[in-house]
Amino acid sequence: MQLENQNVVIIGGSSGIGFETAQWAKKQGAIVTITGRNLIKLEQAAKELGNVTIAIVDIAQESSVQQLMEAFDHVDHLVVLGASLASGTVVGTPLEQLARPIDERIWGAVYAVRHAAPKMSGGSITLMSGLFSSRPIAGMSIVAAAVGGIEAMTRSLALELAPIRVNAIAPGYIDTPLLQAAFADQYEGVVKAQAATLPTQRIGTASEAAQSILFLMTSGFITGEVLHLDGGGRYV
Ligand SMILES: NC(=O)c1ccc[n+]([C@@H]2O[C@H](COP(=O)([O-])OP(=O)(O)OC[C@H]3O[C@@H](n4cnc5c(N)ncnc54)[C@H](OP(=O)(O)O)[C@@H]3O)[C@@H](O)[C@H]2O)c1
Repeated sequence: MQLENQNVVIIGGSSGIGFETAQWAKKQGAIVTITGRNLIKLEQAAKELGNVTIAIVDIAQESSVQQLMEAFDHVDHLVVLGASLASGTVVGTPLEQLARPIDERIWGAVYAVRHAAPKMSGGSITLMSGLFSSRPIAGMSIVAAAVGGIEAMTRSLALELAPIRVNAIAPGYIDTPLLQAAFADQYEGVVKAQAATLPTQRIGTASEAAQSILFLMTSGFITGEVLHLDGGGRYV
């Protein structure tokens, strides 16, 4: 029970990687809070997880993140995952849509860190990068900029916030509701095509991503690290 009675806050914990992270953290004895924007999803997740606190938070709104953190006397581990997969070409996409990955991923992480770090005396913060930081795809330039920025920010924050450890995970294709929604009825085909190109011959699971987060959370000598969880997707 490596997280016995420790407060773990997961921003974006009502589905996918965050939900699985909550499940694994609970198995390690943590006191878990999950957040999301949709109350119905949160309530359903809480029912399945059992004994977790839920809170409605939009990570792109500082006041919303601030309100969340005000509820805590102490935070041991913060996991920042909440973001949509907004994308689009730089030339052909309305600026408002292009700003969303920056608002959610960069500013969202900044809000989370600003309001959580003062409640932390050690422990860890895990931020979310992604494959696009090292593997470019047309139409994903702004998401790539956002996740690349997260990786750079992770290294600086590891110094700035020490002894709080700050790490990031950079997943490739992970089977979650986000990916399923992004590809809709083409999902099965995309998964098959990806599996055929990847050294692992399959895409990742949300549980595997969650275990990577738990690893970073509980590895007391790892900070400023970006853990790639992409089945070798960067190299093919
Ligand atoms: N799945 C992949 O292949 C993959 C690969 C690389 C990186 N990632 C990243 O990993 C993170 C988790 O993704 P997932 O695949 O687990 O997706 P998911 O199943 O859709 O989960 C996303 C979670 O974040 C919440 N969320 C979304 N936008 C939010 C916002 N603006 N403020 C607060 N919470 C928000 C969602 O709840 P609500 O919708 O109710 O807010 C949900 O709890 C995302 O940042 C995603 O980009 C995923």
